[in-house]
Amino acid sequence: MAFHPVRIGLIGCGTQAHVHFRGLQSLGRDRAIVTALCDLDQKRLTEAAALWPEARTSADYRDMLDGDGLDLVIIATMPNSHHQMALASLDAGAHILCEKPFMMHAGEAEEVLSKAEQLKLQVQLGTNMRYLPSSQHARRLMESKEIGKPVYIKAWGCHTAPPVWAPHYHLATSGGGVLASTLVHTLDLAMWVALSPNPISVSASTSRLFPTKRGPKVQSHVHEHYDAEDLIGGFIRFDDGSYCALEGNWCSEVTDFHSFQITAERGTITGSPYSVRIDREGEVEDITPSLQADNWSESIWSQDADIIEKLRRGERWGLQNARQLLNLQKVIDACYESARKGREILI
Ligand SMILES: NC(=O)c1ccc[n+]([C@@H]2O[C@H](COP(=O)([O-])OP(=O)(O)OC[C@H]3O[C@@H](n4cnc5c(N)ncnc54)[C@H](O)[C@@H]3O)[C@@H](O)[C@H]2O)c1
Repeated sequence: MAFHPVRIGLIGCGTQAHVHFRGLQSLGRDRAIVTALCDLDQKRLTEAAALWPEARTSADYRDMLDGDGLDLVIIATMPNSHHQMALASLDAGAHILCEKPFMMHAGEAEEVLSKAEQLKLQVQLGTNMRYLPSSQHARRLMESKEIGKPVYIKAWGCHTAPPVWAPHYHLATSGGGVLASTLVHTLDLAMWVALSPNPISVSASTSRLFPTKRGPKVQSHVHEHYDAEDLIGGFIRFDDGSYCALEGNWCSEVTDFHSFQITAERGTITGSPYSVRIDREGEVEDITPSLQADNWSESIWSQDADIIEKLRRGERWGLQNARQLLNLQKVIDACYESARKGREILI
């Protein structure tokens, strides 16, 4: 059976778009071809078009979507435009790969996910850590029940400086600081490895350490717009009885590191460096498998290759579902609401 190349439109030709471009080019033009590109910035559009000379270019995503049929739209702008671009892409009949964080709030996420369901189109969020070899092993291990049910989950993301190369620190553009923009990766991963329980309540506190920390080293335009949280501590309860502690920090002096840990009934999984330890008759045994090393960019390329190959074969994308995406967004919203109101929020 002959499969056609997946025709892709990409909106937002910035830093992350170029990571996708590298992966898409390695697939070959008989499997994936970017036929439409969009960016407000002409220079970025021209640079992207040099990689994909056959692509139509446009500064307006509505014009981009108005052309020949696209199978897939990759949305790689900042989150304040994801909602409108996702709805328009679905209306144009395209499946969507949307960069994280998904939407500005759960109301937007619900609208996009329900439109996708009505139109029988698929939505993938770019939480690419699920594609790391260790993540795939960890999820299969939890499904096998070998180490029992998850009990206590920890997810953390601590960085020594805020990401100032794009306005992740500006709430109106990013929808959130360290939680929505970076900790979202390990939060999503930890919840997924823990077999995706439903959150029932959230409590969180947030702070802003910038510019007291890191301020003098950062350009003045960042100072003007920096209004997001850069420190968060949180606690989530899930409907299966498990619970999760969260920590995110953009101004840590100690570590530049993110990971997760799941304490289960009979063992513990640690995300990075990956390890699995199990209690066998009271003795602790290390059952960490030897796996291909985790690599961030490769996990993005694996994600793109997976959804493209499934589109070519007419198969459903299997690694995420609407309930998980909505739950992730609800947890983020509830953390911010809890921090604002100073109390626990029921979901
Ligand atoms: N999964 C990952 O590893 C990862 C890594 C980095 C960024 N991201 C996510 O990717 C997204 C983009 O981040 P980035 O670092 O590439 O940002 P960026 O600023 O480098 O790129 C965004 C691009 O979008 C363009 N743009 C903005 N509004 C537009 C509009 N209305 N129409 C057309 N183009 C528009 C900008 O001109 C810019 O070129 C964010 O959601 C971010 O969180 C994901």
